[in-house]
Amino acid sequence: MLTLGQVLTLDDVERVRNGLARAPFRDGRATAGPTARKVKRNQQAVGADPEVEALSRFIRDALLRHPVFAAYARPVAWSRIIFSRYGPGDTYGLHTDDAQMAAEDGGRLRTDMSFTLFLSDPETYEGGALLLDGLDGEREHRPQAGDAVLYATGRLHRVTPVTAGERLAAVGWLQSLIRRDDQRELLFDLERVRAGLPDGEARLLLDKSVGGLLRQWGEI
Ligand code: NI
Repeated sequence: MLTLGQVLTLDDVERVRNGLARAPFRDGRATAGPTARKVKRNQQAVGADPEVEALSRFIRDALLRHPVFAAYARPVAWSRIIFSRYGPGDTYGLHTDDAQMAAEDGGRLRTDMSFTLFLSDPETYEGGALLLDGLDGEREHRPQAGDAVLYATGRLHRVTPVTAGERLAAVGWLQSLIRRDDQRELLFDLERVRAGLPDGEARLLLDKSVGGLLRQWGEI
């Protein structure tokens, strides 16, 4: 799980929000599987509308320019981006996302990672936190507008009920060049060393990487 700071500037967020004001929103249950549909209550804009497609490209480009996203995620295929809107009473209960989805270019993708890009100032709505389930319980994410949370798609997660205001977000899924999380993390650590780090930090990441490779390749 990674928080990506300032994927969009506040001006970019405003531009996306203005575009979404012209986009058609529909009942979010249309894109949920049979289990998730029962706990999903929101509105969303997705698909063939030209405004939505232009905004989706804008967001994909912004993610690809983000240095942490580029070094970690290594996307080879993307789902369509869904713009979701939660008003008072809207929520998305605990669920997991599909393992395979339609790709935006028409093929299929394996969903390795999900992202939620927050488009609302957290001061302007109440509730609406993204909660990601881990072995030690749930962790809450409610970052600034323009920030994104990137996480392994297999995780259970939910969006708590919005009790006031409006929560806008862009969500999407991607297939990574590197299928396994541990291998992707190892390459990410080495990229950080290659990009230049203080000696102590570089040494720690190299120690971690050697340990990771020994665990992957070593036989006892
Ligand atoms: Ni989900």
